[in-house]
Amino acid sequence: MKILAILYNGGQAAEQESRLLGTVENQLGIREWLTSQGHEFIGECSIPLLAGRLSNARRLYSKEGPDSDFQKHIVDAEVLITTPFHPGYLTRDLIEKAKNLKICVTAGVGSDHIDLNAAVDHRIQVLEVSGSNVVSVAEHVVMSILLLVRNFVPAHEMIERGDWQVSEIARNAFDLENKVVGTIGAGRIGYRVLQRLVPFDCKELLYYDYAPLPPDAAKAVKARRVEDLKEFVSQCDVVTVNCPLHEGTLGLINAELLKHFKKGAWLVNTARGAICDKDAVAEALKSGQLAGYAGDVWNVQPAPKDHIWRTMKNTLGGGNGMVPHYSGTTLDAQARYAKGVKDILANYFEGKPQDPQNIIVGLGKYETRAYGQR
Ligand code: NAI
Repeated sequence: MKILAILYNGGQAAEQESRLLGTVENQLGIREWLTSQGHEFIGECSIPLLAGRLSNARRLYSKEGPDSDFQKHIVDAEVLITTPFHPGYLTRDLIEKAKNLKICVTAGVGSDHIDLNAAVDHRIQVLEVSGSNVVSVAEHVVMSILLLVRNFVPAHEMIERGDWQVSEIARNAFDLENKVVGTIGAGRIGYRVLQRLVPFDCKELLYYDYAPLPPDAAKAVKARRVEDLKEFVSQCDVVTVNCPLHEGTLGLINAELLKHFKKGAWLVNTARGAICDKDAVAEALKSGQLAGYAGDVWNVQPAPKDHIWRTMKNTLGGGNGMVPHYSGTTLDAQARYAKGVKDILANYFEGKPQDPQNIIVGLGKYETRAYGQR
């Protein structure tokens, strides 16, 4: 069986740190296991670390373009493994060329880089390792909320510059206590964020999700559901985005919705960059409608060098907590999703049923309600 994995060049870090499993160098730790069973494993399909930077690289953009390794090998691969962090985008076009493809496995959580409707149409299954990195992301969300509310990044930059002007930082630093925090999406990550916020004594915890939390779960974190999105954002001091990217969430946070945010609200998005309109967010920060924006996900990954989210600032020159897509790929998370990929493959080889919570697209239909209401 031909198995294709689209990973990324981990470089020196991956040579030195074997727990960086999502890299070309370490190949999810499954190469020997696969080849010893007689499978053909293509795990060298690399993608660039930074778009536009690697002009002399040996394997430039080998996941993209008609001559890419990805396009070359997808035509007869039966299994495709990808990661959301440096995604190999499986478009409808590619799916139509992939005549032998039966199953796509996402090493992590979030399979929007695959055209899921095309996978349904072509009866290609899509599975992810549900739950594998949800704690990792929830912790990052709480950190990002705190670093925005407390104005951490400009404070640290000031220290590195050799300056010491407390008033410049304190003029825009607040406590999280007594603020209203709301999550768009109260699934595995959104709920864990709410749980982790309980000890901060926020004024209220809110959620917006078409799937209501079970009453006991909502009660445990004292979360109130708001069913209208505009009403929801208008009540929040902090909004955190924790829903998948699909037709119903693409550009959900746009210039129109941002008008309904409380003036000076903070927005944290570790779900998917394209859920927020890039330019509308930058504009809202510049105008003071948002006091801060933080997250690790971008509408294009790797983000181009001149992406406005790298350098955008609020009216006081701070409010930017952006980092590369890594919240769900801590070393702890990598161990979990690499094991999860192996388990999914083992089930597939042996014809055993898959864990239902991992199935996004089954044979010809969606098996989850999280990727949109259909
Ligand atoms: P989940 O499936 O447990 O929960 C998603 C929730 O979003 C569900 O409750 C669903 O009903 C809700 N939802 C879907 N569409 C919605 C909409 N239009 N409005 C409001 N709620 C909506 O998924 P989980 O594990 O919590 O992950 C959520 C997303 O987080 C993933 O799909 C992925 O995009 C992102 N993620 C990011 C990572 C990172 O490293 N930055 C790592 C892992 C996940």
